[in-house]
Amino acid sequence: MTSALGGTISRKDGHLKVTGQARYAADHVLSQVAHAVTIESTIAKGRIKKIDSSLAERAPGFLAILHRDNIAKLRRPDDDFVSASKAGEARVVFEDDRVHYVGQYIAVVVAETLEQARYAAECVRVEYDEEVPLIETDEAMSTAFSPREFFGEKLFASRGRAAEAYAHAAVTVDAKYTTPIEHHNPMEPSASIAEWHGDELTLYETTQWVAGARNTVAQTLCMRPEKIHIVSPFIGGGFGCKGFVWGHSILTALAARHVGRPVKLNLTRKQMFSACGHRSETRQRVRLGATREGRLVSIEHNSLVQTSPVDDFIEPCGATTRFMYSCPNLTVRHRAVRVNIATPTAMRAPGENTGLFALESALDELAHALGIDPVELRIRNHAGTNEHVRKPWSSNYLKECYAVGAERFGWRKRDARPMSMRDGNLLVGWGMASSTYPGFRSPGAAKVRILRDGSVEIVSATQDMGGGTYTTLAQVVSDVTGVPLDRIRPALGDSTLPPAPVSGGSMTTASVLPAAKRAALDALAKLVALAASGPGSPLSGTSASDLQAGNGRVYRTGTGPESGVRYEDVLAQANSVAVEGEAFTTPGAEREQYAFQSWGAQFVEVKIDPAIARLRVTRVVSVFDVGKIINFKTARSQGYSGVIMGIGMALMEHTMYDRRDGSIVTSNLADYAVPVNADIPSIDIHFIDKPDPVIDPDGIGARGLGEITVTGVAPAIANAVYHATGKRVRDLPITPDALI
Ligand code: MOS
Repeated sequence: MTSALGGTISRKDGHLKVTGQARYAADHVLSQVAHAVTIESTIAKGRIKKIDSSLAERAPGFLAILHRDNIAKLRRPDDDFVSASKAGEARVVFEDDRVHYVGQYIAVVVAETLEQARYAAECVRVEYDEEVPLIETDEAMSTAFSPREFFGEKLFASRGRAAEAYAHAAVTVDAKYTTPIEHHNPMEPSASIAEWHGDELTLYETTQWVAGARNTVAQTLCMRPEKIHIVSPFIGGGFGCKGFVWGHSILTALAARHVGRPVKLNLTRKQMFSACGHRSETRQRVRLGATREGRLVSIEHNSLVQTSPVDDFIEPCGATTRFMYSCPNLTVRHRAVRVNIATPTAMRAPGENTGLFALESALDELAHALGIDPVELRIRNHAGTNEHVRKPWSSNYLKECYAVGAERFGWRKRDARPMSMRDGNLLVGWGMASSTYPGFRSPGAAKVRILRDGSVEIVSATQDMGGGTYTTLAQVVSDVTGVPLDRIRPALGDSTLPPAPVSGGSMTTASVLPAAKRAALDALAKLVALAASGPGSPLSGTSASDLQAGNGRVYRTGTGPESGVRYEDVLAQANSVAVEGEAFTTPGAEREQYAFQSWGAQFVEVKIDPAIARLRVTRVVSVFDVGKIINFKTARSQGYSGVIMGIGMALMEHTMYDRRDGSIVTSNLADYAVPVNADIPSIDIHFIDKPDPVIDPDGIGARGLGEITVTGVAPAIANAVYHATGKRVRDLPITPDALI
């Protein structure tokens, strides 16, 4: 049988999804469920003076109102990513009477029906003592600080003497770039349903991290984690906004305990703009110095981002710059200000995506200043090792990404002069940029059960937010056992299963597949032992060491599997229901020896109608080196989604706030534009598909993917716009007014 790894395989859960049988958090039907509606602050800064709920309490169907005066004290969970407890916002919900941003939870109303809850919530009067908020970065400069760390990693980096080298460089670029606040806007808004059984809580959740949600909710409610059961079998996209626990989950649990019934809280699209994070605005300055031959001698990358008054999340724009290119002199600095806007969070490639917009735009500016082809400039500055941590790459096919991408795109035919290429009246621009994202891996566990009917279960407390985890887990187990994919049942998204990391940081594949593989091997070893020892087994008496399992059978080593005994017969003969294998895998010493990073190249064509400044992305070629590809279909799908998100970032997405009062002006999908089908061109996603030789000792070799696919798209588009028009747009999104 050929390997189930590396195929082009449809999703295991595809049929469930298209037939509406996949239950997302809000789809779970619980009897006697009551409905919660939250009340949020309408001011951006101040104090809550009074909450008057007298009218609401007489509203039809009213069950309860909870606010800071009538709930039990909550605890701030440890802000500790490593021990899997991290809230989206450090300040716990209803902590005090302070208001820090528009949309902050003030109260939650519970009623019999959703409509009644909404009506009752409308009846609540909140009085505030209002203060003048800081909404824009310029106003908030007095709050500026230098953050030390991002998830335990130091943010400041320096080697050589960057300023001196810049001052003496033959050719320089010094430019400022900005990116706006953006929101994840997954298709599925966040939702929770809470149900208590005595002192035990079940939460149906929208989460990218069931283990993290369990621990974080437990700590917040001062409960033991074993008393909490998180259920999240399907997630309609997350992109980071469902990575950590946000206030609505806590409020749902509190409300259900209070009314003694299950309670459901489903956020509206509008609430998604304040309730679960966003990508910070960024202001970045990049200074590059180079020799006439295009060798970088100096890189300086300073960024200024926003965070909230009640958390320290930082968009680490310069993280990638530290090692992206070979350069002896480098300084990377981060600063942040506190504005009265809800807390930002990780959004698909936090730091890499925004940082590469600046760096890869600056590199394009340097290429034009030098008269060197942008691809050639990147090759000349290729980093053969990670110069920041001074380690070799585990694997690096970035140059191949450039070469394959250039070939597939037809880059050779590019006339380098701006405004030189045309299609009738349209200006044609060709631009490119590099992509990158770390090859993270975390501890992960899985169980595999081979059942008496010959089917196989694979279970793990990982989750599938749309990337294809159900399918890739089944593929690994099929590969090891030889049992066909349709006889393998994955179950995940449940905190009672063997623990796995957050489905964030693009690490699910690299973390969980090795555990699944070992668990499957463990199950087979137990089956072999059963065959060797079972009284009714035709292989009985054979030493287990002379037996092996595969292709659905246990057989004598040296003979073919066809001559062996089928798994189901081994179990039947032993009168056994199932064998169960279990494994826990964790990264090891290879993490000390190597730097793990995925790579890519984005090539983009735009066409611009100069008369009306209409810009269309007409072609994208993306090539990625992410190690071994487990499933080309789901991998390519990740590629499409990243490129589409990158087009949104480059041309449309921009959350706007009223600078006077901090209200969100674009809190819906009409005013917050995202790409639709008509905006999306032909996208060619290609993978180098070379296994990473060291990322896992189990030989899977996948670094995982997801976030890398969005990186480099926006600068490639901006670079194409420059090539088409001669206009360098350094502020995203590139809307028509920038091109007129
Ligand atoms: Mo991601 S932003 O690590 O979900």
